[in-house]
Amino acid sequence: MEIAVVGGGLMGHGIALVLALAGHGVRITDTRAEIRAAVPGLMASALATLREAGAAPEGWDGDRLARAVRIEAGLPAVVEGAALVIEAITENPEAKRGLFAHLDRLCPPETIFASNTSYLDVFPLIPEGRQARALVMHWYTPPYIIDLVDVVPGPGTDPAVIAAMADLVTGLGQTPVVLKRFVPGYIANRIQQAISAEVFHLLDEGYATPREIDEAIIHGLSLRIPILGHLAKADFTGLELTQRALANRTYAPPPPRERSETLDALCAGGRTGVMAGAGYFDWGGRDPAELFRERDRKLLALKKAMAGIGRMEGT
Ligand SMILES: NC(=O)c1ccc[n+]([C@@H]2O[C@H](COP(=O)([O-])OP(=O)(O)OC[C@H]3O[C@@H](n4cnc5c(N)ncnc54)[C@H](O)[C@@H]3O)[C@@H](O)[C@H]2O)c1
Repeated sequence: MEIAVVGGGLMGHGIALVLALAGHGVRITDTRAEIRAAVPGLMASALATLREAGAAPEGWDGDRLARAVRIEAGLPAVVEGAALVIEAITENPEAKRGLFAHLDRLCPPETIFASNTSYLDVFPLIPEGRQARALVMHWYTPPYIIDLVDVVPGPGTDPAVIAAMADLVTGLGQTPVVLKRFVPGYIANRIQQAISAEVFHLLDEGYATPREIDEAIIHGLSLRIPILGHLAKADFTGLELTQRALANRTYAPPPPRERSETLDALCAGGRTGVMAGAGYFDWGGRDPAELFRERDRKLLALKKAMAGIGRMEGT
């Protein structure tokens, strides 16, 4: 399929890479010239990481990738002949509304519009006449490693479009999860937000340190999740326990907070994460690019192990 990606930032270039490696004709644009210039190098470096882990399809190198993904300076050239346009621009409703209005003028009626928005209800930002062929296709970062893609219909989306896009995602070697209807944050991000709310509570109220919280997550929660998810794990625990835990009400989730004192203190001190050398943890002056590569190598090794082990799957 001919696919246009609009927005070449963190997500856009990764999505373009996945599409190209699956054999689609890909074009990508970004309003910023420096981003357009950076896209080939970012994709080549991601491909090198995949190749090193034995996770890239046969026969792909930087040269082939450069031929497979066309970088375009303007919207008309990027959407010309594209059957699907994936919007991956800044999470700003007015920017997205403006882009979809422009796409509406440029694209024939059969073109499918997909948005990668994380939390926005994007459907009111898309012209009425496009609703039947508009959907959310929400990827995770980095898209060439995390294989979930949420496929989400709007109020007017044609079910055949959802089915076709879910098939497309499967054909990429990714895993589509089709929601019945739109909810902000979809599934994984909502669950992540619930975890974050709890973590802010434990940190801000002084119950535990960042180290203790991550130890509990890594050693307590994470090992079961790759083979059981959450609900299959509940089946193994026994559902009466879950029922009793609800009824006993010994645990009340913390109320949502608008800010976290511990988070604000870190940011105020310039500890904004790996890119700044420190965040909740100290990253000891290590090159951020090397840290990201190490993370990606470990993720790919884990993914390979998970594929080998398989999961406990009921029907
Ligand atoms: N970062 C993540 O982990 C993540 C995960 C899933 C979804 N998303 C969503 O994906 C979208 C993009 O996020 P990102 O993290 O890649 O942001 P980003 O800031 O890295 O990239 C966005 C790019 O869009 C470009 N842009 C802005 N307006 C444009 C326009 N009209 N036409 C073309 N290009 C334009 C910007 O120049 C920028 O390079 C957002 O909607 C975000 O919510 C992000």
